[in-house]
Amino acid sequence: MAGVRYPQQAAVGDALPEIADERIEGGVHLPTGLRVAEGFETARANCTGCHSGRLIARNRATRDGWQEMIRWMQRTQGLWQLGRNEPASLDYLATNYAPEETGCRANLDVEAIEWYILGNLFLRNP
Ligand code: HEC
Repeated sequence: MAGVRYPQQAAVGDALPEIADERIEGGVHLPTGLRVAEGFETARANCTGCHSGRLIARNRATRDGWQEMIRWMQRTQGLWQLGRNEPASLDYLATNYAPEETGCRANLDVEAIEWYILGNLFLRNP
């Protein structure tokens, strides 16, 4: 992924978009691609210096999963110790970029499904 140019990154000569552009659309801070919510400023300050916030926004993880990613960046990518900004960042990440399966849809009620057999495939009645 190194060398990928994300849309909000400045080309030489562009105005610095992180400074010049503070537009928010649909709750998303356009220059970073991060959701504006509690902890946004902390995450922005600690997480958008090396890569786009969009790299963050398209990932999903639990709080532990996010902590793993932070540890990985600390081990291998020169990410600094976040100190008290770490819990704040983790809260922000776990809240806004949680795994999509969690809580989005009730589990299928297997008992309530009528099954029928088509050839050797088990299909759910539409
Ligand atoms: C010191 C630089 C640096 C900082 C600061 C930094 N990262 Fe990273 N991060 C990296 C590098 C380097 C990569 C790898 C990018 C690549 O592969 O092109 C990366 C990758 C990622 C990825 C992609 C992981 C994957 O497997 O796809 C995520 C998500 C991420 N960072 C989140 C964060 C978060 C959240 C923060 C703030 C807590 C943060 N980063 C701060 C350097 C940093």
